[in-house]
Order: sequence, then C-alpha cells, then structure tokens
Amino acid sequence: MAVIGIMSAMHEELAAVLARMPDEQRVTVAGRDFWVGHWQGHAVVAVLSRIGKVAAATTATVLLERFQVDTLVFTGVAGGMGSGVRVGDVVVANGFVQHDMDASPLFPRHEVPLYGRARFEADVNLSAQLAEAGQQVLAKAAQHLGAGTLADFQLDSPRVHQGLVISGDRFVATSTESQALRLALPDALAVEMEGAAVAQVCHDYAVPFAAVRTISDRADDAAHTDFNRFIREVASRYSLAILSQWLTNRRSD
Ligand code: ADE
Repeated sequence: MAVIGIMSAMHEELAAVLARMPDEQRVTVAGRDFWVGHWQGHAVVAVLSRIGKVAAATTATVLLERFQVDTLVFTGVAGGMGSGVRVGDVVVANGFVQHDMDASPLFPRHEVPLYGRARFEADVNLSAQLAEAGQQVLAKAAQHLGAGTLADFQLDSPRVHQGLVISGDRFVATSTESQALRLALPDALAVEMEGAAVAQVCHDYAVPFAAVRTISDRADDAAHTDFNRFIREVASRYSLAILSQWLTNRRSD
C-alpha cells in the first residue's frame, strides 16, 4: 500500500490530523515524533515539519529514508506575495525557489549549486489533486469555518491559486523586504520558510511532492491582528478539510 507522508508546519494542524488517525503509533527519530497510522483507509505518517529550511529538510529526509513514504504533502501558512493573493486564500505550489539562495558570482542568483536550477517543481498530478480539493473546500468555506469566523477575519469569497512559492530562513514582515522579493521573483505567489527545501529533498529521492498553504498575512508591516487565532480557526481547519477531501477524492480515482 502506498504510504503518504504529511508534514504539518503547525502544532494545531498536526493535532487535527492526529485526531482523525485512530491507530497512530509514535516513533521518535532525530528528536522528531513521527505518527504512523491510517487516515480514511490510507497508510499515513504525519509529522511536525519544524520551522526553517534545514529543519524541514531533515524531517523530510527521515520520512523518505526511514518511513519509505512514496508521496509527500505539506500544509501550513504563508505570506501572500502576488497581487490578488489575500489573507484567507489558499496557494497550491506548482514550483518552489529558495529566495535566499545566492552563490553569485559563482552561480546565478537563486540557483542551487550543482543542481543547475533554481526552481524545483511540485508534482503536477498531486498539485492538481490538492487544488481541486482546495476548491471543493473553499466553495463551502462558511460550512468549514463558520459564518462568524469568516466575518471576524473579513474573508470574502476565498480563492485557490496555483503558482510559485518561495522559501527562505526569514519571516517576511516588512513591506520593504516583500517589495524586494517581488522585484527579484515577480512570479511568486507566496512566501514561507520550508517548501523549497522539502521540494529539493523530494527531487533527490524522486518522490512526488506538493504543498498547500493558507495565506495568513501579506508579508508586510501590517502584521495579522491575531495570528494564533487565525491558525486555530482558519488555517488548521482548511488544511484538515483539504487533506480529508483529497484523500476522499483519491479513493474514488
Ligand atoms: N509564513 C506565514 N507568513 C509568512 C511570512 N510573512 N514570511 C515567511 N513565512 C511565513
């Protein structure tokens, strides 16, 4: 049976997934708790990604080496970069770049040395499946979040976007920095701190990878009014619902 690795960026998301895995067993490797079990009949290993590129790459490597997962999906939040990518929207990555990789003048800016590329692709089918599941969930956003939460966070017709996600070891919280990133990588829809690293590891192992991120902020000075509440009441619920819908759709594929 195929084994699906689920990396969650946040404790709340992982807790929501584990609540759906009736038989999970904890296995600790490299100081990380990996939860091995089943969700909706699929063999799953769920784990907290940890924050930043190196920590997430280590977590991914253990999932691939020790737990032999043959599909890897990542859920978390990200800062919106593209125009029209609003708080409460969902971005499904179709590719990843490390925005803080710069070995110039030895290699072009953003290129990962010895890979001959800056961009690592998400798996096309997996991304399409996650985007479809995301659309199904967002079409019923009020049902998943409650009308009160939608109103409190002023979420109006949330949308799913597909495109480039950029990663770096920095939480982007100033307009100056997000503008500089937009200038350097104009196609970027969202910025976070892990995706491109996990994509590189999955590229090395030739394992399909895709990531879905709820936009929690606009990566600017206007910090979100209540980040923790947003994670609890919006992002965690979206991730759980999207993954659950994806697993349901997979079964009927
Ligand atoms: N994750 C969520 N928001 C982010 C931001 N603004 N920068 C980096 N990672 C993020």
